[in-house]
Amino acid sequence: MTLSLPELSSPIFQRPRRLRQSAGLRRLVRETHLQLDDLIYPLFVMEGENQRVEVPSMPGIYRYSLDLLLEELSTVQELGLSAIALFPLIPDSQKNNQGRESYNPNGLIPRAIRAIKQTFPDLIVITDVALDPYSDQGHDGIVDENGKILNDETVAVLVKQALVQAEAGADLVAPSDMMDGRIGAIRKALDAAEHIQTGILAYSAKYASAYYGPFRDALDSAPKFGDKKTYQMDIANSREAIKEVALDRVEGADIIMVKPALAYLDIIARIKPYTYTPIAAYNVSGEYAMIKAAAQRGWVEEKTIVLETLTSIKRAGADLILTYFAKQVAQLGIKNS
Ligand code: PBG
Repeated sequence: MTLSLPELSSPIFQRPRRLRQSAGLRRLVRETHLQLDDLIYPLFVMEGENQRVEVPSMPGIYRYSLDLLLEELSTVQELGLSAIALFPLIPDSQKNNQGRESYNPNGLIPRAIRAIKQTFPDLIVITDVALDPYSDQGHDGIVDENGKILNDETVAVLVKQALVQAEAGADLVAPSDMMDGRIGAIRKALDAAEHIQTGILAYSAKYASAYYGPFRDALDSAPKFGDKKTYQMDIANSREAIKEVALDRVEGADIIMVKPALAYLDIIARIKPYTYTPIAAYNVSGEYAMIKAAAQRGWVEEKTIVLETLTSIKRAGADLILTYFAKQVAQLGIKNS
C-alpha cells in the first residue's frame, strides 16, 4: 500500500497513541468485535449411554453419547451459543468403503438431529457431509481398487447423506469432502425433495492440512493409506481458493468456508472481495490443541491468546467462526451486541 493519504503529509505532529490511552477510547475506535452470535461450536457424538470421553489431544473437548450431549447442549444454550456443528464417532463394525451408514435414516447423526431439535428447537444444527467417519479407509470418498478416490460415485452417496440429514431437521448441511460438483448435486436433490429451506455451508477452500490431526483422533478417522491431497487443496495455493469459492457459489452454497483458519488468514482476506456470501472460517482441532498445550505448560496466557486468535480471524474477514473455544469464550461472559 502506498502512503498517499493527504493526512500523512500534514505538518501537524501525529499522535496515534492518543486514541489508545484509555480502555474507553480503545473500545470506541475498535474495528473488530467478537460476539457469540458469530460462533459455531463443533461437538462430537458417539453411541451409548452416559458416555463422556475426553479427546486426549483436545483437552476440554469430549465425545458425548446422545443423552449427555443433550445435557451439554442445555449448558451451551444457556451460555448464549446458538449454533453447533455435529461430528459422529462411528463404530468400526459400521464402517465400509461405500460409507453406507452415512445415509442410514436411523443412524447416529439423524437420531441426534431429531433429539436435539425436539429439545432445543431454536438451536442451529449444522451437520457434516463426508464419508470419512463412515469409511473403513478413512477417506472422504469411495476408494477404488487402485487406491483412487472416486468423485462422482462419492457425490451420489453425499447426496443421500445430505437428504437424510435434511429430513431429520438439520438447518445447514456442511459438505467437508472436497469432491467436485457436490454442492450443485446436493442443492438439486434438496430442492427436489422440497427441502428448499435447508441451507448449505460449503467447505469451499479446504486445505490438505496437518492441523486436522487431533480431530482424526477424536473420530478415529485418519486415512488408512496415503493422504487427502487428491481432493483437499494444496497448502501453497491461493488463487485456487477463489476458483473453489466461485464454483461453490454458482452451485448454490449459502455460506462458504475457509479451513483451517490461522495459517490461511490471507485466503480469507483474499476471497472476501469476490463474494457477498457470508464467510466462515474453521479454527480447527490442531489450532485448538496447540494453544491448549502451550497454556497447560504456562507458556502462554490462555484467555488472552484465545480472544486474540479469534479476533484475528474476524479481522481477516470471517463472518462466522467454527471453534472448539466457543464454550470457553461464552463462559468469559462475552456478549452479543
Ligand atoms: C472430515 C472433516 C475433517 C475436519 C472436519 N471435517 C478432517 C479431515 O478432512 O480430515 C477437520 C476439523 C478439525 O480439524 O477440527 N471431512
